[in-house]
Amino acid sequence: MLDLKPRDILLATALLAGFAAAGAGIVALVQGTTEARIEENRMAVNRNRIAELTGDLDYRNDPVHDTIDLGHDLLGGDHLPAWFARDADDEVVGIVFSAIARDGYSGDIHLLIGVDRDGELQGVRVSAHRETPGLGDAIEAERSDWIHDFHGRSLGNPPAEDWHVRKDGGVFDQFTGATITPRAVVRAVYRTLQYFDEHREELLATRPDDARSMAEPLPQPEDHGDDEASR
Ligand SMILES: Cc1cc2nc3c(=O)[nH]c(=O)nc-3n(C[C@H](O)[C@H](O)[C@H](O)COP(=O)(O)O)c2cc1C
Repeated sequence: MLDLKPRDILLATALLAGFAAAGAGIVALVQGTTEARIEENRMAVNRNRIAELTGDLDYRNDPVHDTIDLGHDLLGGDHLPAWFARDADDEVVGIVFSAIARDGYSGDIHLLIGVDRDGELQGVRVSAHRETPGLGDAIEAERSDWIHDFHGRSLGNPPAEDWHVRKDGGVFDQFTGATITPRAVVRAVYRTLQYFDEHREELLATRPDDARSMAEPLPQPEDHGDDEASR
């Protein structure tokens, strides 16, 4: 039988408590550092994607921190973040919209759409989708040049009656054996331009203080298949 004195028990308890506290402290420290690094990476990803979609616009702010949520039928949903690019006087020079095409072959197609203050498209990218590999996935910039055809276009370019895929009498190519996917994207981009046109004044009147920092990452193309919202 061990003959433990109260002093030994107290010492052992204090030691145990000390180890436990040190362990918890180390875990908290590692977790804090990891979270900070993940957040940094998210911001970097957002910044790069926004830079891709604001073309040659001369902006001085950090659009990652200049964002509001928008919701409208023309954008295809609610709580869709938009990022603002501003000049040195805080005037809006461009906006990157999030929009959803609800009529893809396999459901929602998530888009990022950059326009300048005059409504000219600076770039369009697909951020998440579930279209068929080898058929509908040519909408990805990594797979074909198709998505670049939007660059420089606007509501009047081409005229409204030509904002369709060729099969429907418009100017945009469809893919061999796959018309549904590009048709959905063309329509969604057009609707986003309509949204910008209808809300231009209020969007351009926003100030940096209206914005809130966007903590969530933009969905990546690799996400397709795993994106809850695109089902
Ligand atoms: C297994 C399978 C997968 C398909 N995936 C797509 C797709 O991702 N995108 C698409 O536009 N069409 C896809 N299609 C073809 C469409 O069913 C349709 O035939 C095609 O888009 C042409 O549409 P249209 O008749 O409106 O011109 C797929 C067909 C099959 C059988």
